Amino acid sequence: MIFKGTAFSSRDHQNIDILEDHLFCISANGVIEQIVAPEEAEYKELINEYSRQNRLQEYEKGQYILPGFVDLHVHAPQWAQAGTALDLPLYDWLNTYTFPLEAKFSDLTFAEEVYTDLVRELIKNGTTTALYFATVHRSASQKLAEICSTLGQRGLVGKVVMDAPDENPDYYRDASAQEALAETELFIQEVLALNEKTPQGVYPVVTPRFIPSCSDEALTGLGTLAKKYDVHIQSHCSESDWAHTFVQERFGKNDAFALNDFGLITEKAVMAHCGFLSEADMQLFAEKGTAVAHCPISNAYFGNAVTPMAKLLRTYQVEAGLGSDISGGFSPSLFDNIKQAVMSSRMLEDGVDSTCCSEQRGTPNARITINEAFYLATAGGGDSLSLPIGKIAVGYAWDAQIIDVQATTAKLPIFSETEALVDIFQKILYLAQPANICEVWIQGRKVHQNRTRKLEV
Ligand code: GUN
Ligand code: FE
Repeated sequence: MIFKGTAFSSRDHQNIDILEDHLFCISANGVIEQIVAPEEAEYKELINEYSRQNRLQEYEKGQYILPGFVDLHVHAPQWAQAGTALDLPLYDWLNTYTFPLEAKFSDLTFAEEVYTDLVRELIKNGTTTALYFATVHRSASQKLAEICSTLGQRGLVGKVVMDAPDENPDYYRDASAQEALAETELFIQEVLALNEKTPQGVYPVVTPRFIPSCSDEALTGLGTLAKKYDVHIQSHCSESDWAHTFVQERFGKNDAFALNDFGLITEKAVMAHCGFLSEADMQLFAEKGTAVAHCPISNAYFGNAVTPMAKLLRTYQVEAGLGSDISGGFSPSLFDNIKQAVMSSRMLEDGVDSTCCSEQRGTPNARITINEAFYLATAGGGDSLSLPIGKIAVGYAWDAQIIDVQATTAKLPIFSETEALVDIFQKILYLAQPANICEVWIQGRKVHQNRTRKLEV
């Protein structure tokens, strides 16, 4: 199969490649095999040959190819409460809203209903890979992996571990550390088996909810399991004054070093939030290849700080991507999180208290650009997961969202035939809605189609 169109893709943190009217040749297993520019000798020949075979898909004027988004932090069960209770602080939100909701996922019928709706919604929003927290329940977590497998999304799924009797409600926790570990191991084996039948991949993830919710025994055992099966790891790290201080009081160190003592800071680990990382924590992440999942919308509510993404990316070269953190973040859209990542970083740089003089108000050099935020949502996410995704480049999966800037119900404000592609790219990132996403592809398979142009009558 060959696609013909104009694509935008990150070359590195700061720069975008614009591939105008290129051909993208996709192998039978959904990988980009070759990219051909109009000036190359075989360009015309390939078009003729593939169009004769009916294997050429040519995008229209006004349609653009973006890599599918990689959402590095989603609480799948919390989709059922997205947009609610955000006026509460983290601790109260967890105990009064979130834990009672997550407990309901012992009911597989309810789990299937919510998870199916969420995976569809994320795909509609251009998210082709997601790193999920499910709940403590193994069967419902397995159900989420099956739904990703069936609907065609690349899913990385964790059965949540939270066994500490004093920190979790009796109605919603693992019965013991031993049981949490046995269930996690079984879950890993089940998902590894499911992955064998899933072209786009589904992966099990070792998932201690956060340090406060886990016993030392559970954390030790999870580090051992992650090593034994060489699987991904995810947790919350240095999120909020409360969680960060709790860990310092328990271990006399920050989350990063405490998790490292348990073997949970690895190349395949993704840590959400990270608003309170010290310089030493950042250095540790860089050395270990551990990634930060930046959740800018959620952090505006629960984080108590803006994660210093410019420093993580530029000074420490820490791997990083974006997370919606549904439902700490209300939006299923990484377009929304791209915008918020830029805006939060600008407020960090300028500072926000006008009674403080401008020299002391902010944090110098903290802003990130729209290109950097796009990188986080795409190539940075792929790098964080150590998977060949998030770029329109040879050797990467054909995970793509096709954006129609002329969608009848969501036309973008483009009034010139000759508008620069770099400006169109920025308008897409700031203004595109799900109504602009006309197709979504994952591993070479079309998983979503949306008629964006209504026939005129
Ligand atoms: N810390 C522990 N659990 C959670 C959660 O579900 N959401 C967020 N944002 N932080 C957490
Ligand atoms: Fe979270």
